[in-house]
Amino acid sequence: MSRIAYVNGRYLDMRDASVNIEDRGYQFADGVYEVCEVRGGKLVDMPRHLARLQRSLGELRIKEPMPLAALSVVMHEVVRRNRVNYGIVYLQVTRGVARRDHGFPAAPVKPAVVVTARSLDPAKGQANAAHGIKVITLPENRWPRVDIKSTALLPNVLAKQAAREAGAYEAWYVDRDGYVTEGSSSNAWIVTKEGRVVTRSADAGILAGVTRAVLMDAFEALQVRFEERPFTPAEAAGAAEAFVTASSQIVMPVVAIDGQPIGDGKPGALAKRLREQFHRFAVFS
Ligand code: PDD
Repeated sequence: MSRIAYVNGRYLDMRDASVNIEDRGYQFADGVYEVCEVRGGKLVDMPRHLARLQRSLGELRIKEPMPLAALSVVMHEVVRRNRVNYGIVYLQVTRGVARRDHGFPAAPVKPAVVVTARSLDPAKGQANAAHGIKVITLPENRWPRVDIKSTALLPNVLAKQAAREAGAYEAWYVDRDGYVTEGSSSNAWIVTKEGRVVTRSADAGILAGVTRAVLMDAFEALQVRFEERPFTPAEAAGAAEAFVTASSQIVMPVVAIDGQPIGDGKPGALAKRLREQFHRFAVFS
């Protein structure tokens, strides 16, 4: 089956879909994006993704390309046209097309919108979760505005590749003070030996993950004790458990950091439980 993409007002076969070579997203990574989980053909936690998109656009002073409700309709339509039951939907908004010049275009241009959707094999995610993933650590080398979900992801690309080349699945950035910020495409968490879940505050240094926020809201109902504070790679290595969260991963147990096993080197009980329970607390639309 051919894949369908939404590109600036049209639903096109991916083979015919293209963007202008002077799109500022292409030339400057002058754009933002969202990735949403699709489950049972429904979009997961769309209101939070759209709220974050709106914030990212605002921070970069990119105009909203259409009302958020209309964007939501487009995303659902792309999922429907691609018959995605389980997978992800990707939305990208760039500042638009203009002759190359670093500053914003003098005359306002229309932001460019692309939406794609892709099926994933749920068994693969489950197999990954059953084994747990390994992470490596790397010095933080991104700009300070990682709170904006920008398509400028070169450091993240290099970090993910470094992880792969080291036989790991994710790279955790470590800031100048020696604390883990987040993963190249996920938020980072540990569980202490006392059973407390720990993750860094979203005030600085990380993207405010939607999965992170939903999970935090679930802790009370799940009777999980929780602390929002930074932790070091050494604390992670000595922790009972670790895991990462992202819309494409949900809760993914981490079993080793820089080659050192975490806990007994197997996915932790709490991480597994949070993974199983997560969708009870998610919003489906
Ligand atoms: N990444 N931190 C970073 C740097 C991320 O890129 C992501 C998500 C997250 C988790 O955010 P959320 O829970 O809202 O997905 C944290 C997406 C999935 C991606 O780039 O593919």
